[in-house]
Amino acid sequence: MASLDAGSGDSRARARGDGPSRLVLEGSARRWNEAIGRLWARILERNRLDREGTVVEVGPGFADKIGRGLAQLRFAGTLLVVEPCAAPRDWVVESYRSLLPRAKIVPLAGDIGTVRDLPERAEGLVMNHVIDDLMLGAALPPGRASALFSEMVPGGPCSPDLRLAWRRLGDDRRLLEATSRRVVRELCALVSAIRPRLVVMSHYASWYQRTHGLETADRLAQSVLVQLRDRLGGTTPGNRRLLARLRQDPGRWFVSDRDWRSATS
Ligand SMILES: C[S@@+](CC[C@H](N)C(=O)[O-])C[C@H]1O[C@@H](n2cnc3c(N)ncnc32)[C@H](O)[C@@H]1O
Repeated sequence: MASLDAGSGDSRARARGDGPSRLVLEGSARRWNEAIGRLWARILERNRLDREGTVVEVGPGFADKIGRGLAQLRFAGTLLVVEPCAAPRDWVVESYRSLLPRAKIVPLAGDIGTVRDLPERAEGLVMNHVIDDLMLGAALPPGRASALFSEMVPGGPCSPDLRLAWRRLGDDRRLLEATSRRVVRELCALVSAIRPRLVVMSHYASWYQRTHGLETADRLAQSVLVQLRDRLGGTTPGNRRLLARLRQDPGRWFVSDRDWRSATS
């Protein structure tokens, strides 16, 4: 099975101007986001995403991969971006408005446990490689987490502080267990709240995590993904076949068009 490693180690963003657009993706970081975007486009297309529907994305950070996938589908619906940190939220909203000129992009400044103004029904809930970050965000005091995520740059590496925070979390078994339970509970509650027709979550193997001592983050995020899949009914067979065709490890994705729109809670 091909691993979707983050391209290469030379991902970089170049500084240009001021404001959110000062950091524009270039080079391998951009190609990497495009490649992941193509995967998302294939998955969303195969699942007949309604181009006019309402889609909720959680935790894009400084990455526009899902937006690039939606752009390939000419998405013209409403994209709600749940991102608690102002700097990445501003960056991704600007990028999405440029990539998706026919869509309405709505930033929601909150985390998955507290965010307001969510729809009662959604066409899709989408999350790209963010489960480890949700865990870190849940384990750290709020101000600390947002400082760490704000320090990141598009296409750039995680800061030494963020790596240190993961090492500390990795050593604290009780905190880790409580954090995993909280992330599973909050994501299941989110699905109940917005009752999406389609849920897609990825946690593909990351070159960066493997080469920077972040294997714990990867392993724990994968175990949370497995728990979520169990709670939410598993990847549907057609989507398992699709992931195989895309040379993706089905263990690292959760793709289901089970349709939670009629679910109660
Ligand atoms: C490194 S980025 C995620 C990677 C990105 N999705 C990608 O495709 O590469 C992590 C983001 O998750 C956000 N985050 C952390 N905890 C969160 C939570 N509880 N709810 C929503 N977003 C959260 C952070 O603010 C941060 O910007």
